[in-house]
Amino acid sequence: MFSTDDSMKVFAGSSNPDLAKKVCTYLKIPLGNAEISVFPDGEKHIRVEDDVRGTDCFVLQSTCRPVDEHLVELLIYLDCLRRASARRITAVIPYFGYARQDRKDEGRVPITAKLVANLIATAGADRVLAIDLHAHQLQGFFDIPVDHLTGELVLSKYFKEKSIGNLTVVSPDVGNIKTASKYTSHLGGDLAIIHKRRMSGSEIKAYEIIGKVKGRNVLMCDDIIATAGTVCGAAELVKERGAEKIYVGATHGVFAAQALEKLKKAPIDEVVVTDTIPLTEETQKTGLIKVLSVADMLGEAIRRIHKNESVSEMFKESDNKM
Ligand code: R5P
Repeated sequence: MFSTDDSMKVFAGSSNPDLAKKVCTYLKIPLGNAEISVFPDGEKHIRVEDDVRGTDCFVLQSTCRPVDEHLVELLIYLDCLRRASARRITAVIPYFGYARQDRKDEGRVPITAKLVANLIATAGADRVLAIDLHAHQLQGFFDIPVDHLTGELVLSKYFKEKSIGNLTVVSPDVGNIKTASKYTSHLGGDLAIIHKRRMSGSEIKAYEIIGKVKGRNVLMCDDIIATAGTVCGAAELVKERGAEKIYVGATHGVFAAQALEKLKKAPIDEVVVTDTIPLTEETQKTGLIKVLSVADMLGEAIRRIHKNESVSEMFKESDNKM
């Protein structure tokens, strides 16, 4: 009998093949076969080795470092699948680079997040599946359907199992308040917010706290740790104000240069991220970072998209379980 699973394939770009394999393990399907090579002049070439005509295809690629290379590779993949007559193509982008360039905050600058969204749709994506796009309204940058997942599901499950008493969930900036309040609804505890000011790409000033942290264990939640300026500045501030243990949970561990040094020196007891971006060997060796996998969540979302089932139900189900 015909099963829709026969007409589904998941392919991996070179940014995060381990996550793609884990997603396929969840889906109980083999990873799609493709050859990614580089011509002597440095141009990328992709050849999909499976027949994808009439197939529901998913390409998993995080546009993490090297950002432009991974982005172009994704675009080539999408073009390749479209020209191979895939029935539908979903760009699965666990980490969407350029997300933070989402507005003109000064004159004569681009809105690169919108440019990248246009490129992805133009290259051939029919849909996008993404995790914590930095700001929810980025979904509107794509003129194709976007399913937006959150790492909060995986992270708050981990912290719930730790049963941290006397908890205050701290949003290290105003933009993250909604996520922080999601954590409190799953974990209990109070909510506090930090007013932060970014002086430059790498310099952050944490200013004031609204909420109580004295004598409390703190969970700081964020979407991205890039330079780690935000979480380290916030950790210092809450420590100064009498916080006890400080935990950090973030979806995307970008860990730009100097981030690990800062994290080592900061008064933080544990840093937890997800595997939307693979850790470099160097980062793994420090033993500083705990990594949780989003593979099952992504796999379930892919299964639902393929079967035309609701993706948002996943969040309701998790709300009921927690
Ligand atoms: C800011 O709006 C984000 O939510 C993150 O707090 C920020 O992007 C983290 O960047 P960094 O680690 O460089 O401070």
